[in-house]
Amino acid sequence: MGRGWIWGVLCLCSQFVFAAESVIIFKQESAVPQELSLSQLQQRIPSIELTTAEPHTANRLQQYRGFSFNKLLDEIYGEHWRDSEELIFHCLDGFQAMIPVSHFRKYNTVLAYAMPDRALFKLNSEVAYKKEIELAPFYLVWDTEKNLEARKLDINFWPYQVNSIELVRHTENSRTHPPKSSSETVLRGFEAVRQHCLPCHSLNGEGGGKAPEFNYPVNITEYFREEWLKQWIDDPAKLRWNVKMPPLRANLENRPQLIEDIVEYLKFMRNFKQKP
Ligand code: HEC
Repeated sequence: MGRGWIWGVLCLCSQFVFAAESVIIFKQESAVPQELSLSQLQQRIPSIELTTAEPHTANRLQQYRGFSFNKLLDEIYGEHWRDSEELIFHCLDGFQAMIPVSHFRKYNTVLAYAMPDRALFKLNSEVAYKKEIELAPFYLVWDTEKNLEARKLDINFWPYQVNSIELVRHTENSRTHPPKSSSETVLRGFEAVRQHCLPCHSLNGEGGGKAPEFNYPVNITEYFREEWLKQWIDDPAKLRWNVKMPPLRANLENRPQLIEDIVEYLKFMRNFKQKP
């Protein structure tokens, strides 16, 4: 028996050590990235608990343990983070959430690392295209009990498996930004694509790694007919069987206009290709 038993214990121990070693990297433009382990964060910032309506499980109440995210940002970047434009959350599965800093000035958030009432840091998602989701190492949760309005935020703004966070001073320097002189439609489309598409897709190499690039080497509008593209964004499952991409969220204001803006922006970026 000896060997198998010892291996069992070794594996268990290494898993335990691995789990205890959650790390997260904080980046800020040219500054040297800071890498911190969970225990280092716990030494610097008090942990708190938050009960909130969980959008992945039809807004059922769920309890989380983590750090007040604004306190954590103060500690890492200093208070001036509030003057930046955006925070990018990079996730282990290739997902990226790009969230305007203004939301963090308005609503309370917690960077969670555990659920006090559960052994595993996992959720059984009720969102159609996902099942069991692993949340570790970190999960951004919004206090939707105190701020009912925060329930309107896109589910893309609840990134899990977060392993690095990047503070972006101006999105203008981004490879996805159209020239400032672009039309209103194109500029609105840029915002919409950053929020609704780039979590999974990339444009000029910037964005998530879960889905195809939009602009390089060939722009998506160069091989996808415009009417089809609009239908695709509305609901990909109407065009292709067994797709993973979710439809654009149903309850968005001005949804048809938003789809127009998205397509106009994507078309416009044909002339601004950059090799990733
Ligand atoms: C949650 C991740 C996710 C989001 C968000 C997302 N997509 Fe996708 N998309 C995918 C995946 C995955 C595919 C690959 C096909 C599939 O399996 O669904 C895809 C495929 C596509 C394709 C087809 C590409 C090809 O060459 O076949 C287009 C066009 C597209 N997406 C556009 C968009 C647009 C525009 C948005 C924003 C409104 C968007 N997607 C948001 C995951 C996503």
